Amino acid sequence: MTLAEFIAALDLLAAEAPARIAAAADLDAWTEVRNALVGRQSGRLTDIMSGLGALPKEDRREAGQRANGAKAAIDDALEVRRAALAAAAPASGPTIDPTLPARARWKGAVHPVSLVIDEVVEIFRELGFTIALGPEAEHAWYNFGALNFPDDHPAMDLHDTLYLGEDQVLRTHTSPVQVRTLQQYPPPVRVLAPGNVYRRDFFDPSHAPMFAQIEGLVVDEGVSFADLKATLAHFARRFFGAGTKTRFRPSYFPFTEPSAEMDVQCGVCSGAGCSVCKQSGWVEILGSGMVHPAVLEAAGLDSERYTGWAFGMGPARTAISRHGIPDIRILYDSDVRFLDQFTR
Ligand code: PHE
Repeated sequence: MTLAEFIAALDLLAAEAPARIAAAADLDAWTEVRNALVGRQSGRLTDIMSGLGALPKEDRREAGQRANGAKAAIDDALEVRRAALAAAAPASGPTIDPTLPARARWKGAVHPVSLVIDEVVEIFRELGFTIALGPEAEHAWYNFGALNFPDDHPAMDLHDTLYLGEDQVLRTHTSPVQVRTLQQYPPPVRVLAPGNVYRRDFFDPSHAPMFAQIEGLVVDEGVSFADLKATLAHFARRFFGAGTKTRFRPSYFPFTEPSAEMDVQCGVCSGAGCSVCKQSGWVEILGSGMVHPAVLEAAGLDSERYTGWAFGMGPARTAISRHGIPDIRILYDSDVRFLDQFTR
């Protein structure tokens, strides 16, 4: 090969290169063109330069310089094209899928039972109630004796109550907070006492050994059963919706007289009957009644002067009937796929 032939081959390559580079329609085609022009294995330039050694010694320097010059020009053109293709790629290539859901940051959710407690507290706060708390490890007298339980009451039996010692129990209800509150604050009293309670029950679809209750207590002069009914019916309409029907059924608790349970029309079937309300059309929401004079006296109040009413509700039951949850255990499984569905 002569220097003139070498230069002619370079010129031919330099003349062809721009059109081939411009024809590369995407980055894959660009890579092919680059390999064909200047690739180390089989590129045209590599091919031409392999003839360098066959040139007369005195021509090699010039040949080498021209080859470098041709390579630099082709490399520049390649880079310009590559940049242009890369900039256009998002519009033409499937690198993002705008139909995919956004990846939201997980914020956590409020437990459905906590949501019920918060809403109940808010509704009674509007009516002037404040919050009262009591211990979960409770003296048996507050849990039973002061609440007028007879000594042989079945609820005091070992089957229902978890004893911590001779006179100490895990409270089986929030009603002991009634007595603690009345001992501490003079009437008028309007308090709400949310908290956890414990019973010697095993988990089944409708029972748990620990669950939340919300206690309500109103004590003043001249408080009547009409106040109880009106306040609780108001609560039901605020909580379940304006048209919610309620009914009161006579019941029995040692610490209230008379006693009544309040049902609301089943929200899942609107009273037609379903599995949540066990086909009755009604769901029991709370127990209530006029505070028994013996309880007022146990707390040191004059039961001739003061009267009061109280209620206790289970927010887990309320959450279940509100959402049509088939099994109470789901509330305590800590399964994020379930819990994540509840937000304020
Ligand atoms: N303490 C009762 C229970 O655990 C509920 C209740 C509270 C009933 C206050 C009447 C008054 O079932």
